[in-house]
Amino acid sequence: MCGIVGYIGNREAYPIILNGLKRLEYRGYDSAGIALYDGTNIQMCKTKGKVSDLESKVTSDISTAGKLGIGHTRWATHGIPNDVNSHPHYSMSGDLVIIHNGIIENYASIKKELIKRGYIFKSETDTEVLVNLIEDIKIKEKVKLGKAVQIALNQVIGAYAIAVFDRNKPDEIVVAKLGSPLAIGIGEDEFFVASDATPFIEFTNNAIYLEDEEMAIIRLGREVRVRKIKGDQLVDPYVQELQLNLEQIEKGGYEHFMLKEIYEQPTVIKDTYRGRLLADQGIIKLGGLEDYIQKFVNANRIIIVACGTSWHAGLVAEYIFEDWLRIPVEVEYASEFRYRNPIITDKDVVIAISQSGETADTLAAIKLAKQQGAFVYGVCNVVGSTISRETHSGTYTHAGPEIGVASTKAFTTQITVLTMIALKLAKVKGTISKSNYMMHLRELELIPSCVEEALRSDEKIKAIAEVFKDASNFLYLGRGYNFPVALEGALKLKEISYIHAEGYPAAEMKHGPIALIDDQMPVVVIAVNSNHYEKVVSNIEEIKARQGKIIAVVTEGDTSVKELADYIMEVPKTSENLSPLVTTIPLQLLSYHIAVMLGRNVDQPRNLAKSVTVE
Ligand code: AGP
Repeated sequence: MCGIVGYIGNREAYPIILNGLKRLEYRGYDSAGIALYDGTNIQMCKTKGKVSDLESKVTSDISTAGKLGIGHTRWATHGIPNDVNSHPHYSMSGDLVIIHNGIIENYASIKKELIKRGYIFKSETDTEVLVNLIEDIKIKEKVKLGKAVQIALNQVIGAYAIAVFDRNKPDEIVVAKLGSPLAIGIGEDEFFVASDATPFIEFTNNAIYLEDEEMAIIRLGREVRVRKIKGDQLVDPYVQELQLNLEQIEKGGYEHFMLKEIYEQPTVIKDTYRGRLLADQGIIKLGGLEDYIQKFVNANRIIIVACGTSWHAGLVAEYIFEDWLRIPVEVEYASEFRYRNPIITDKDVVIAISQSGETADTLAAIKLAKQQGAFVYGVCNVVGSTISRETHSGTYTHAGPEIGVASTKAFTTQITVLTMIALKLAKVKGTISKSNYMMHLRELELIPSCVEEALRSDEKIKAIAEVFKDASNFLYLGRGYNFPVALEGALKLKEISYIHAEGYPAAEMKHGPIALIDDQMPVVVIAVNSNHYEKVVSNIEEIKARQGKIIAVVTEGDTSVKELADYIMEVPKTSENLSPLVTTIPLQLLSYHIAVMLGRNVDQPRNLAKSVTVE
């Protein structure tokens, strides 16, 4: 996620903005930039790299005078990380300058129209399109900046938190919000703008948090004017008096980044399919896949290579791809694949899944596959990461930076991308019926609200965690699509609570693990409505007969398992193929609460790194 910072007031803007950008570094980024109004002109400096790189570049490149300015840390979505694509962006005249956090989905059609009108673009970004659309409207309609911004935003589709100013009117900044956060700090004769309050909390704790589809004109010497973007209605803004400290703000008020990221899943799943899943039109648009559809459709085999949680997402994909695409799929631990002298041909397609895009074993597996002639497709969360550059093509998840070492939102956004890939290919291949295809488009569109519903059981799950926090071992059982979720649930518990946990296919119990069952063994069973439901109920009865303690994940309204289980965690009904996206939620929360109750370092568990860049 990008970070935005702005200042207008009676102090030098540069140090406030630079420090503000440093405060937003936790949001993750790949480039940074700043624009200052020095009383006559706009001074701009921007660079790929860190805020510290920007700082050393600024002092040699530009004058840092001025009491008006904006700054940005970029998490690339359109256009690779480089100086030109970094924000801020000028309009073609050089009069306007903008920073933006979000995605303009229809930027390509707007850009095409502006080029016809003679606009020239320097970058690949959607943001540069937006600032030129604003300029075009301002000139054509002969309106002020605020009105031009409002008209422009009524023409764009997507998400944004923007700040823009006009060098011919240096006493105001115009801001607007839809889908990305934007806070306005209210000081004494000065105003701050930022993605959250961390850049200005030391100057003021009075803040206005814009709501979606609101904009504000911030002008020196008068109150902030907030209005609706659609309909022009004035809004009486609520000025909050913030009681949060810096660290609490970075975590969005959550106690840990992991909990914040668990709760971000409805938003980031939507961000991941935004502009790609067009359910009403029955279309899935995946830019990285368009040129390689035949490669997949004609493949003899799909090999998925990954590690850890990403490997579990790959296992879910095996069920999805074989069910819908009818192409054999193998899921390989990258660390094993790279050394076992596997048989790979140019009729194989390899999918590499990695949140960080830097995992050494996955990278090595990719290189081996490419050497043997396979086509390699990446599913990564970090734009411009090594794996995203090493693969022939790919699709990014839009989960935003995942700070907690335990992967949560990466898992669900990876499955979201893999589901879209499978649906799109199965439609081309004709191996999925139109009704089934359309049903799953709509079901996928509803997943964010299903995840929100699953999150509402948090308090109940916390109470279950209290009961079992001192257990020495856990078993996690699932069947079909939810067998990988059982593995993932066990990994989550292991890696943050240090309690041993093992995931198993539920039917495997009788082949050994059932010997472990006694009244000290909590068994988490995923028993949602599915083709396997009756069989899972039998597995629960087998465990119950041996005094095992049952914690069951069930479809809300379930009555059978409710009679058998000691505790239940309810999730909303979804299609079986998409159920991992919701059944994983209670397991994430269960492991989180147990780890917190045990006093573990949840965000940085012992012995673990967020990205395993060495063997
Ligand atoms: C999962 O919670 C772990 N943090 C770990 O297993 C992780 O999934 C694995 O190291 C793979 O990382 P990647 O997705 O960045 O490649």
